[in-house]
Amino acid sequence: PGKNKPFPLKMDDHPLNQRPIACCGLTCCDFITLCKGFPLEDSDQRCIDMYWQRGGNASNTSTVLALLGARTECLCTIANTREKEFLKEDFAKYAVNIENCVYLDDCTAPVSNCIINVQNGSRTILHSNKSLPEFSYKDFQKIDLKKQKYQWVHFEGRPNVPDISSMLQAIDSHNKAHPDEKIITSVELEKTRMEIVPLLDKADYVFVSKEHAQIHGYQCKEDTVEGLGTKIRDSSVIICAWGESGACAKPKHGPIVASPIFPPEGGVVDTLGAGDSFNAGVIFALSRGKMLQEAVSFGCLVAGKKCGFRGFEGLK
Ligand code: FRU
Repeated sequence: PGKNKPFPLKMDDHPLNQRPIACCGLTCCDFITLCKGFPLEDSDQRCIDMYWQRGGNASNTSTVLALLGARTECLCTIANTREKEFLKEDFAKYAVNIENCVYLDDCTAPVSNCIINVQNGSRTILHSNKSLPEFSYKDFQKIDLKKQKYQWVHFEGRPNVPDISSMLQAIDSHNKAHPDEKIITSVELEKTRMEIVPLLDKADYVFVSKEHAQIHGYQCKEDTVEGLGTKIRDSSVIICAWGESGACAKPKHGPIVASPIFPPEGGVVDTLGAGDSFNAGVIFALSRGKMLQEAVSFGCLVAGKKCGFRGFEGLK
């Protein structure tokens, strides 16, 4: 593991002058149970703590981007249920803009039961999303891209692939019409979803998680970026984080760059959202003009820091 920080978490500049970064995808409630050890099935145990946390990949990535100092927006749907106020207040706490979020009646809020084992920081997620519709292309069309002046829009690879493709296409069209206001795009291929593979060639940066790479048969990050990297656009970059073996990235026609992990000094206590933090770190560094190598290291640094405490606030 890397011993020295590649550079501090904060980057000098004037956040107010920055164009915003938007993250599109899921927001849910994480009901977290902090356990002394992983529970035995059919046992009755006492745990260390239980608390709610705003979760979902896009939601977490937007939180981390905001904590790093980016102007950030989350594009998501929220059910008109009792969880709504909690989610809204929490977005406000981190200064994540939700003005383009969509509130929906007659559906249940997605929730995750997250068991965190403090012995090793492992997170076991039991997720339920019964009826919340995804943020759609129709919702996205209501956003005036010229007005919002996004610098970057990041998409979580959710099952509504045709909608995500249309949103990415709309950004491509905007970029063609306004080359001086180009919006950078990224997409995350995560979980064992095969249906999201068509998103590989639709964004400037493609994040592939270890779990997703494994369903393609890859056994390391280098093989993943070499293999899946053949399917991205000519001008795009593929990025893959692989737990303890760090992360790497590869422009379609360029060399691989890699970074080790930066484990937290006091040990790993909570890995929930570590991947989302990695993505945020890479996006943030690139959005501030860092080179790919530095950005991948920065992603590992942010993810490593995050694992050293509960939640995200310690990244401030
Ligand atoms: C972490 C996370 C949690 C959420 C789950 C959804 O990456 O976004 O916050 O409960 O994944 O799959």
